[in-house]
Amino acid sequence: MKLLEEVQLKLVTSLQGKDLLTLLDYTSEEVQSLVELATQLKVITKAGKCPALLEGKTLGMIFEKHSTRTRISFEVGMNQLGGKGMYMHARDLQIGRGESIYDTAHVLSGYLDGIMIRANSHEMVKELAEHANIPVINGLTDIYHPCQALADLETIAENKGDLKGLKIAYVGDGNNVAHSLVVGAAHVGAHIVVATPPGYECDATIMAKAQAIAEANGSTVTTTHDPVAAATDADVIYADVWTSMGQEEEAAKRLEDFKDYQINDALVAHAKPDYMFLHCLPAHREEEVATSVIDGPNSYIFEQAENRLHAQKAVLASVLA
Ligand code: CP
Ligand code: NVA
Repeated sequence: MKLLEEVQLKLVTSLQGKDLLTLLDYTSEEVQSLVELATQLKVITKAGKCPALLEGKTLGMIFEKHSTRTRISFEVGMNQLGGKGMYMHARDLQIGRGESIYDTAHVLSGYLDGIMIRANSHEMVKELAEHANIPVINGLTDIYHPCQALADLETIAENKGDLKGLKIAYVGDGNNVAHSLVVGAAHVGAHIVVATPPGYECDATIMAKAQAIAEANGSTVTTTHDPVAAATDADVIYADVWTSMGQEEEAAKRLEDFKDYQINDALVAHAKPDYMFLHCLPAHREEEVATSVIDGPNSYIFEQAENRLHAQKAVLASVLA
């Protein structure tokens, strides 16, 4: 990492006042710049010199689902930037008793400088963003998890250098984390292959959009049902849970449907020897990933979790400043 004196913060000024609902709404240059800014903010934060770019600003943080990383990293990130993060569970707000998104968006816009929301429905977050006149940041919906993808790209870049031309293999469910990782990889010119069981593929429209972005950046987006094909020569192997929040009643069926998609020693033997194992967490050891892999020498999961803090500071500093 560069010495502090060499770090010149480059905020992504084109994002000022913008929402972050999906990385599809950002240009490749903006995504690449956010990843670089995340590392810069990490360096200066560790040197005890994170600037108070958001002094006096308040981020409302609304959660409809559980969270450890998102909740804490957003709140700490706001503190480090001199502002404040305010946690709210949706069930405690009037929204939980049926107050409209329209009214809520207008009211919150009068108090807050930005909203971070983790919601069941991406459509609800879109509606909130449409009516709020402050930036809305997606902290996970049923379709996307863009802040996770930014932290993932930061983690890979910090350990592999140039992201262009790397091979990222996502093995598991074609879910919110997969969608955002695919779009993020496309923006930075990394090749990404998604291996899912039949019936659990990523959304075709999102994949087509990501493919177009990847093509412009000289990389590829591909899909397979063969985890070995995906893992072969991979620089990064990525896992998420087989059963996401809200799908609990499908858990038994999913355990059966995904059983050949575990990331274990036999699978990672096909990857490059210096491959990185990533997982957004929370993880289920011995389900989607073998303990020997997630706790092994190629696992970067805790660095990846820490990078949520810095990647989100890059977003907050750019959209709220
Ligand atoms: N990866 C992630 O978003 O973690 P949390 O659910 O703990 O926020
Ligand atoms: N796909 C998982 C990610 C959790 C961070 C879920 O939605 O539950």
